[in-house]
Amino acid sequence: MNFYERKILPKVIHCVCGLKPMMRQRNKVVPDASGLVLELGIGSGLNLPYYDSNKVTHLIGIDPTPNHKALDNALEKTQLSTEMIFESAEALPMEDDSIDSIVCTYTLCTIPDIDQTLEQCRRVLKSNGKFIFVEHGIAPDKKVQRTQNRINPIWKKLAGGCNLNRDIPQTLEQHGYNITKLESMYLPGWKPACWNVWGSAQIK
Ligand SMILES: C[S@@+](CC[C@H](N)C(=O)[O-])C[C@H]1O[C@@H](n2cnc3c(N)ncnc32)[C@H](O)[C@@H]1O
Repeated sequence: MNFYERKILPKVIHCVCGLKPMMRQRNKVVPDASGLVLELGIGSGLNLPYYDSNKVTHLIGIDPTPNHKALDNALEKTQLSTEMIFESAEALPMEDDSIDSIVCTYTLCTIPDIDQTLEQCRRVLKSNGKFIFVEHGIAPDKKVQRTQNRINPIWKKLAGGCNLNRDIPQTLEQHGYNITKLESMYLPGWKPACWNVWGSAQIK
């Protein structure tokens, strides 16, 4: 990791991901989590205030990037029982069929091996468990899609591996997830980065 990726990028991502429209998106899904929860790519802990402490028994956050002061601050403030694992989601260390809810917000865009990660999530999620997500990704408009595809290589370099053009609902379906709730819209802002999809899924 270079200086930009270690020191500057996490602060930029924390600021951008903390913008009001994105915080409103978190509030639409995170309170649905219950039981033993696994949050993929917990980042700076922006979801922590949105968990319902009456429903969550324990939260495990996983993220390969450990040095985040904002995460420490968020963990200090929360009343949830928490544990952090500084590893990649492609190799989850949990047992099969052990997690009640997986929460994933603005992370499937970035995880290098999304296929492997979704297979791992399928393995650890209980058969009646919920995969809860908010992501940005490939837009429905052809013109916006063209921009997303054209800009993606440079965007990915600048934005810590984030892809503008992943089709998250389609990828979930391809990996045997049944999407039980799905909503979508453009958040205010630059359209190629603002097409949002959110909802929840269960394993088939
Ligand atoms: C755009 S940030 C989103 C952070 C957070 N989920 C949020 O909603 O604010 C993407 C996050 O994915 C994490 N990430 C990247 N590769 C990952 C991997 N292989 N496994 C788990 N998390 C990963 C990054 O470290 C970063 O925290």
